[in-house]
Amino acid sequence: MGEAVERYPLGRDTAESKRLNEQHKLLIEIVDGAIDSTIPLDRISSVADVATGTGVWLWDAQQALCKVADGSARYFHGFDISSAQFPAALNEIELSVHDVLTPFAPEHRDRYDLIHVRLLVTALGESEFETAVQNLLSILKPGGYLQWVEIDYTPLYDPKNTHHPKAMPMIQSWTKYMDQNNISRNAPIAVAKAFETAGLVEVVNRPFLVRGREDIKARAQAWELGFWSTVMPLVLKRTGEAANSDEASEKANGIIADLAAAFAHGEVIDVRFRTVIGQKAN
Ligand SMILES: C[S@@+](CC[C@H](N)C(=O)[O-])C[C@H]1O[C@@H](n2cnc3c(N)ncnc32)[C@H](O)[C@@H]1O
Repeated sequence: MGEAVERYPLGRDTAESKRLNEQHKLLIEIVDGAIDSTIPLDRISSVADVATGTGVWLWDAQQALCKVADGSARYFHGFDISSAQFPAALNEIELSVHDVLTPFAPEHRDRYDLIHVRLLVTALGESEFETAVQNLLSILKPGGYLQWVEIDYTPLYDPKNTHHPKAMPMIQSWTKYMDQNNISRNAPIAVAKAFETAGLVEVVNRPFLVRGREDIKARAQAWELGFWSTVMPLVLKRTGEAANSDEASEKANGIIADLAAAFAHGEVIDVRFRTVIGQKAN
């Protein structure tokens, strides 16, 4: 029997780890910092980052919490389905392999004041957000905060929301791939609904735009170009637009050259971020 193909389209090599770390620096400028400013830092002593990747968010969360000079000891734990991108050494941060779609071990139950999740959109099917949130809820302390940052791709499907013609080949292949793989068009909505279903309270869903942010425009374009360059060969193979790896890489090169031309004309692909925050009832 063949191995199940992972939905997640990104690799886990050194180049991808570097891309994730660079992406993190941009994302915390797009959204409201590593820890959303609505979360009271003085109430946070144990922190989990689920689908942590390289653990880069944990490092920044640790720095932010260090500045709260209340002398209390803090605990940090990263979980990911794969250890391939775990760093060799992270100061006072524990790391474990764990699939968010399965229940956490009993020692983590009701343990965390803050759980952060970011960018699982391409790894989970639309219907899997609820299972993930149920599992996360079990490791959240009563009164603790769940902060989940996701991408809303619906502007790519909206014919009224125009993009430069040279960006369209990328958008067409990417949206085809998303639909074929049951990837959520609007993951923040799926997350927010899963929060409500799980009984999280005080749920907020904060929007953050990328297009129109002149202060970060060049970095946003470089990030978008980097992301779609990374995934496009696999996308073309999985959608059947390329028959083999050679054809996929040749076609991807053309699509990415067109995307770069669109960026040279000032385009920024209109992906939107949202931070969804909820609290576990006391
Ligand atoms: C796009 S990366 C984001 C990493 C990190 N959250 C960040 O923002 O830098 C997605 C991560 O989710 C992990 N992942 C995919 N499916 C998962 C699952 N079912 N449970 C836990 N982690 C998962 C991948 O291994 C990868 O590290």
